[in-house]
Amino acid sequence: MAEEKFPGVFLVGGRLATKSLTPGFRVYGEKLVREGDTEYRMWDLHRSKLAAAIHKGLSEMPIKPGSSVLYLGASTGTTASHVSDIVGADGAVYCVEFAQRPMRDLLSVCEKRGNMLPIMGDARQPQEYEGNLGKVDVVYQDVAQPDQDGIFLKNSALFLKKGGWGMIAIKSQSIDVTRQPSKVFAEFVQKMGREIEVRAQIELSPYDLDHLFIAGRKK
Ligand SMILES: C[S@@+](CC[C@H](N)C(=O)[O-])C[C@H]1O[C@@H](n2cnc3c(N)ncnc32)[C@H](O)[C@@H]1O
Repeated sequence: MAEEKFPGVFLVGGRLATKSLTPGFRVYGEKLVREGDTEYRMWDLHRSKLAAAIHKGLSEMPIKPGSSVLYLGASTGTTASHVSDIVGADGAVYCVEFAQRPMRDLLSVCEKRGNMLPIMGDARQPQEYEGNLGKVDVVYQDVAQPDQDGIFLKNSALFLKKGGWGMIAIKSQSIDVTRQPSKVFAEFVQKMGREIEVRAQIELSPYDLDHLFIAGRKK
């Protein structure tokens, strides 16, 4: 029997899942579980940093049914598709990706999901896609780039509502391979503290090594 962990996020047999917006379709080979008229998509902790963060104790979940989310680094849509399940038909997920190969797969996911909107663009240049969206409730970022801090700050300044949430998966190796991850994370969190009140810091091992997931509200 499914239990609701957060609005739109479920535990099915004790494991994380979302209610499928597109029953019968898999995005990344995930297991589908049917209960009566509802189909759940099991959410793989090893394939999604958001799932790993929830599993490891994220206590406030900013992404809710009806939320608008700017998703930076959507890749082929693995996590973005679960976000699309959570926000549902009344929400929107603006998926920014700059690499052509993952964008091809992302496009076929977006074709089936009316609330997922693909944006071929570089998250370092948010003014390029400024015309595609207004202010959002959540900026979610997973870009694995050296300038992850600057990318978030620019996008937050343009698109995040006051009181909206930033959610960022930080990869220390992409910022500086030579420094201890704990030092890289501390510096990153300090910089983010100017823009958002950091409310959660979750280290993602063993699902993703040298990654910290942070969430906080825009000041
Ligand atoms: C770690 S993957 C994202 C995985 C995805 N968030 C998920 O959980 O399904 C990082 C993605 O960010 C994209 N990316 C990196 N830098 C970017 C940029 N400046 N603008 C847009 N996309 C970027 C990469 O092409 C890659 O697909």
